[in-house]
Amino acid sequence: MTRYTADSRDRVRGAVDMVALVSARTELRRAGVNSYFGVCPFHEERTGSFHVRPEDKYYHCFGCQAYGDPFDFMMETEGLDFKGALEALADRFGVTLETEAEDPAAASRRLRRERLHSLLGRATAYYARYLWEAREAAGAREYLRGRGLSEQTLRTFRVGYAPSAWDRVLTASRGAGFTDEELLAAGLVQRSKARPGQVYDRFRERIMFPSADARGRVLGFGARAMRENQRPKYLNTSDGELYHKGSQLFGIDLARAPAARSGRMILVEGYTDVLALHQAGLLGAVGIMGTALTEDQVRELARVVSVLELCLDADRAGQDAMLRAARVTAGSKLELRVVPLPEGSDPAELVAREGADALRARVESSVPFAAFHVERILQRTDARSAEGRDRAVAELAPVLGAVPPSVLREDLLRRVAGRLELSDATLARLMASAGPSKVGRRGPGGGPQAAAVKEVPMIDQGVRKERDFLALCVALPEPGAAALVAIDPDELLTSGVFRRAARHIAGRTASPLADLPGDDEELARVVADLVARAGRAGDVSAERLEHARLILEQARLDRAIRRARGQGGMDIAALAHERERVREAILEVGARLERAV
Ligand code: UTP
Ligand code: MN
Repeated sequence: MTRYTADSRDRVRGAVDMVALVSARTELRRAGVNSYFGVCPFHEERTGSFHVRPEDKYYHCFGCQAYGDPFDFMMETEGLDFKGALEALADRFGVTLETEAEDPAAASRRLRRERLHSLLGRATAYYARYLWEAREAAGAREYLRGRGLSEQTLRTFRVGYAPSAWDRVLTASRGAGFTDEELLAAGLVQRSKARPGQVYDRFRERIMFPSADARGRVLGFGARAMRENQRPKYLNTSDGELYHKGSQLFGIDLARAPAARSGRMILVEGYTDVLALHQAGLLGAVGIMGTALTEDQVRELARVVSVLELCLDADRAGQDAMLRAARVTAGSKLELRVVPLPEGSDPAELVAREGADALRARVESSVPFAAFHVERILQRTDARSAEGRDRAVAELAPVLGAVPPSVLREDLLRRVAGRLELSDATLARLMASAGPSKVGRRGPGGGPQAAAVKEVPMIDQGVRKERDFLALCVALPEPGAAALVAIDPDELLTSGVFRRAARHIAGRTASPLADLPGDDEELARVVADLVARAGRAGDVSAERLEHARLILEQARLDRAIRRARGQGGMDIAALAHERERVREAILEVGARLERAV
């Protein structure tokens, strides 16, 4: 992990022209010395509540209370992380970033990664050129055109073609100074079984879809077969040093900024689906490549957007994938919606068949996940038998129980009552008696889509951080005791039982199970759990403890800022400043931790 110096950061901040930066998103007018205003780019409004103070490098919206510095602005509008924002701004305002001196091991790891990135970048360019220039790629060009994909879209996604020969990429890469070992690590070649010690090109006679990280660096490929008897249909880069299919989101590099701006990301299954949506003007779409949505992917998505539009194939597998998606997003703040597609189709076919406008209309008419789930249960219900209807009630109770009182909920209840031929009152009574046992299993953090499909109670992300902090206090008795004395549990922690645990453990970090009060079973259970977690914690250090504390401190400041906003408080700027300092400290400790591993 390269780490830029604090001085670099300050120079970038100094060089940023706030007015130029913000003007790309909204028109600004001068209001006075060091003061501009305009229509807020972060919320819908007609009047201008958005203020910029260029000399202070600061923006603030009196309407929606968005505020921050140039880095925040980039992160919010482009969906970048801090480092990405720093690099983008440095690039744009002509600042050369300096990296801090690394230890030799970290430096060689970074060099290694950079070489693999460069190797994959070269291969991507090679395949792309081959697609457009080689005679043997004529069939592939024809096929892609026939699927309705334009040359511009294909070039945007750097789609390519792999030659049928066994050694083209191998030879070209060796010629550019790369070793066979590097080619293997990048997943571009594989070992020969017939001739030990020899390697040959992994991808041959296939259409190449490069899959990049959020910054556009290619990490691997999905390679589509061209011939009938060629198996598998898609040959992917195997998981390895750089590429992990389970954490990859195909198209994230192109989708991130548009999705961040609209607040929603469309999730599709396939490579061609992403391309087709992009071509239809739906730029915020990523592919999960036919697999189940993973926690890694959810984490990445939750950083960029708050709404996920599931636009998965309308087949059995796609429908199951939606239910699984609900399960993995249960602990996150992501709101799930479902784009209904006609039976047996996928988005790419639909664009080809019905055109871009029709698909856009379908995406716009997406429904809340709960509505999809209810519909699915009703579809499989045998409404002719009393038993079938009872089963449906039992299945529906937790789904509907998780939807907060709303018009949506009323609509769904009416729909169910109609379908099961029950009066509203009877349905309500049946729901109530079927409900509690299942609804009760719901964890505190799950969104409305969560309850019904979740098997184990999940704990809220915020509360999980509180638990991590306390477990580290137990794992490190001395610094743990100091940390616990220094905090105010009521301020720093939100969970009642963790507040009590913090008070109980302080002064007893070496023997937390001692002196537990007899009348607080929940506390006893939580402390025992913390001790168990501390025992499993592995690599602990005072720095990790400090990191965990800072994360809670940042959350505390976020709460304070939200409260101040709600009350129209004047101290927002001071709190924001404090939060900024905490965030810098998090980055610093985080970087030290990364270097330590
Ligand atoms: P599909 O079989 O639905 O493919 O698999 P598709 O995207 O519609 O393919 P085209 O349009 O016929 O070319 C969905 C996704 O599952 C992954 C790929 O990412 C694919 O896009 N997949 C599928 C594989 O990884 N390997 C396979 O053999 C098949
Ligand atoms: Mn498909």
